[in-house]
Amino acid sequence: MSTYVVVGLQYGDEGKGKITDVLSTKSDYVVRFQGGDNAGHTVYAGDEKFVLHLLPSGVLQSPGKCFIANGVVVNPKSFIKEISQIEDKGLKTNHVFISKRAHVIMPYHILLDTYREEEQGGTQIGTTKKGIGPCYEDKIARVGIRMADLLNPEILRDKIQKNLKIKNALFEKYFGKPTLSFDEIYNEYLEIGNQLKTRIIDTELELNEAIKSGKNILFEGAQALMLDIDFGTYPYVTSSSPSTGGVCTGAGVPPTSLQNLIGVAKAYCTRVGNGPFPSELDDELGEKIRKIGHEFGATTGRPRRTGWLDLVSLKHACMINGINNLVITKLDVLTGIKPLKIVTNYKTEDGKTIDYFTSSTEKLYDYEPIYTEMNGWDEDISQIRFYDELPENAKKYIEFIEKYLGINVYLVSVGPERSQNIIRKELF
Ligand code: GDP
Ligand code: IMO
Ligand code: MG
Repeated sequence: MSTYVVVGLQYGDEGKGKITDVLSTKSDYVVRFQGGDNAGHTVYAGDEKFVLHLLPSGVLQSPGKCFIANGVVVNPKSFIKEISQIEDKGLKTNHVFISKRAHVIMPYHILLDTYREEEQGGTQIGTTKKGIGPCYEDKIARVGIRMADLLNPEILRDKIQKNLKIKNALFEKYFGKPTLSFDEIYNEYLEIGNQLKTRIIDTELELNEAIKSGKNILFEGAQALMLDIDFGTYPYVTSSSPSTGGVCTGAGVPPTSLQNLIGVAKAYCTRVGNGPFPSELDDELGEKIRKIGHEFGATTGRPRRTGWLDLVSLKHACMINGINNLVITKLDVLTGIKPLKIVTNYKTEDGKTIDYFTSSTEKLYDYEPIYTEMNGWDEDISQIRFYDELPENAKKYIEFIEKYLGINVYLVSVGPERSQNIIRKELF
């Protein structure tokens, strides 16, 4: 009985949802601890395809409970929509709960995110326009609305009134946009609170009890370390901490309780939105990888930028997260691509060779990735379930990653289906 944390090590979309789905079959709890419905986690189960944004991917198979913990920013309308989509497919959702402390994404957060992204001359990040940044801003500014507030008409009234005063002034005077009506928002969110009241609980109390009594708890990250507010390519990042450290503050559990720290990386690399991407393949090969890997955003449908695996950034991500078990996904996508390249160093603008990730985002544009070339393979690997049966060059690719990072790859994913895994060591 133990705790498991699944986090992304690149720029998101590594296949965390699929891995969480697989691990959740033995979990008593599956917990989202940061981010919001900016996430898009795709799970294939037989002929069914599920795309989850706010709900933990464990909702599909976990025999236990699913928590949206305090560190998540919750758009309650997305929550209700996703719950009904799952129920329409015949699955139960009465095991899903939200923390009283989680902050609520309000309509003005979404508008603010959208207006900023559309502002000429602004600093477009290429966000998902889900209101994530503005909601976290209000949380830190101590003016946010929390899930528990939806259950208290007086507090909700006061908080919406105070927030709208400032947000409406900004919309009207700065952006030249229409203002929002207090009555409409108040009545709608009061009703939402009423609808969700049995699901709004103190998640941290139950989680800490569960840890004490030795239950299996799986924490599911959204986004990834290179989008981390502190350790990603700031400002081209999301507004939360998608690292293993984020679990403690985002779910209210102590650092000493975290045991299996599982980092998920694609066998290559993708990024949606703006910001530096040193190993980007802005050419035909990049297009080919996008096509074979179906690299289109699960939340916004945008084409994902594609590129080679970058071990310098992966080492940075493993260091910050303290990863002790690696998962490599989408190895099947590299079949037939020859030769393969992996970034092992960067050459700085003044000619120095370095193997660590810089804190200066601007400098990254001038850094030149240094690649190691590796031989590829042609065999279809999507039906392989035992590591020894992989083509020699595929094994060499995995072992090169392990050696560089000094961490074992415990699972290799070779297709989107639940069963398409090569498991080298049982973690549960
Ligand atoms: P997440 O945000 O990290 O959960 O990842 P996404 O779901 O946004 O993107 C990963 C995509 O790759 C999804 O469409 C998955 O179904 C798919 N996928 C996951 N693992 C594999 C794999 O090993 N091979 C292939 N071909 N597809 C995969
Ligand atoms: P999952 O969980 C990939 C990116 C956006 C943008 C930046 C900030 O599916 O891996 P935000 O809306 O969060 O303020 O946008 O972060 N981004 C993601 N990219 N996968 C995600 O989630 C992402 N969530 C946000 O594209 O560049
Ligand atoms: Mg995704």
